Amino acid sequence: MAKAKIQFVCTSCGADYSKWQGQCGECKDWNTLKEFRESKAPAGRPDFSQGDRFAGYAGAKASIKALSEVDLNEQARLETGISEFDRVLGGGLVAGSAVLIGGHPGAGKSTLLLQTLCVMAKQFSVLYVTGEESMQQVAMRAQRLNLPRDDLKILSETSVETITEVAKEVQPKILVIDSIQVMHAPGIESAPGSVAQVRESAAWLTRFAKQTGTILILVGHVTKDGSLAGPKVLEHMIDASVMLESSGDSRFRTLRAIKNRFGAVNELGVFAMLDSGLKEVKNPSSIFLNRSGEDSPGSVVTVVWEGTRPMLIEFQSLVDSATMGHPRRVAVGLDTNRLNMMLAILNRHGGIFTGDQDVFINVVGGVRVNETAADLASTLAILSSLRDKPISSNWVVFGEIGLNGEVRPVPNGQERIVEAAKHGFTRAIVPIGNKPRKNIEGIQVVPVKNLAEALEQIR
Ligand code: TYD
Ligand code: MG
Repeated sequence: MAKAKIQFVCTSCGADYSKWQGQCGECKDWNTLKEFRESKAPAGRPDFSQGDRFAGYAGAKASIKALSEVDLNEQARLETGISEFDRVLGGGLVAGSAVLIGGHPGAGKSTLLLQTLCVMAKQFSVLYVTGEESMQQVAMRAQRLNLPRDDLKILSETSVETITEVAKEVQPKILVIDSIQVMHAPGIESAPGSVAQVRESAAWLTRFAKQTGTILILVGHVTKDGSLAGPKVLEHMIDASVMLESSGDSRFRTLRAIKNRFGAVNELGVFAMLDSGLKEVKNPSSIFLNRSGEDSPGSVVTVVWEGTRPMLIEFQSLVDSATMGHPRRVAVGLDTNRLNMMLAILNRHGGIFTGDQDVFINVVGGVRVNETAADLASTLAILSSLRDKPISSNWVVFGEIGLNGEVRPVPNGQERIVEAAKHGFTRAIVPIGNKPRKNIEGIQVVPVKNLAEALEQIR
């Protein structure tokens, strides 16, 4: 037997190396290289392009066209019937696309897919491959959730070779693989879940999907254990990657696209996990706010922009004198670097020193805020806790803070203010560049130029 060829693959970005090294040269992550053993001759690349549905997909025979000759007919989208899911996908599933649904075990990936596909199966043929749960378990869950069970075809299998053989016969419009971590591809010796298996299995399945025009939905577990391949290695192969995230024991789940070749990223779908499965939350602002009517120090509400809509969220901060030498900075739902930057700006441009304080900041409800528009709100939350002085719970604050202490305008300023007014907020502290031209009913807008002016407002 020919000697197995050893390669190393970065589990973070998927780059290949012939020798092990501590740091990946591509993504600069440390200790992410894992051994990838290709046995004998690598498995032949199968050609699935017999049949009638292959023309135009990546795997079909090469042909050259001028860009203008390419058929521009928009790819039809299949609506999933769950509007939060559709919005995150950019309007539905695109024919021939490969979508990855990632998330921690228990996030609700299987539940979401089962709920969606039992209903879609009435219109389109769907093959659901379950590699983790038995057919009975899936059927029992469908029964418990009161889902139609007549049309969804289910297969319990972990070999991608067998799966594509079955799929070639059944010709499903949608093929679901739950999950990619338990699949194995021919010719790869390492254990299921290893980088090599995940990568090869996913490559095999996406090739099948592209060549036959099947929609492929892969489920992938995100895990902190380095020995399992996170969905990162798959990101190059797939068209859209969406993450279903939960925070702690919160029953809310957020669905977010982190890559989408057919739509915008940053769309956020919100679900609640109930006894009856995942339920869409159509007005997320209402759940992430704790409107007890009481003003408490350290709490500030802001409006973030999530994809195509505004959402109100609340910051809670606790600032307390540091008991041990090195003060702690803990940010949950917010980037710690951003927090450190805000503290430095607060010191330099607001004259407020926090170097001897522990600073904790949290986004209520377990949402993640990636927007710089939240700068001003997080800074005021910290200040409010430091001074032990509440900011009225009827106020809303947004704006980006620059390193010179200036408050910069943010996109969709007007819509954010309108959203706040809709939820009964009476005062908005906003960047001067976002000052609306006309009055907005029910809300007083206070434009500020820089941090000092904002601090004036909360004296
Ligand atoms: P599941 O879809 O199996 O997660 P994943 O496929 O992402 O690993 O969901 C598992 C969790 O959801 C489980 O801990 C129980 C909970 N759950 C409910 O609370 N209600 C329900 O109706 C269902 C089906 C699951
Ligand atoms: Mg599952």
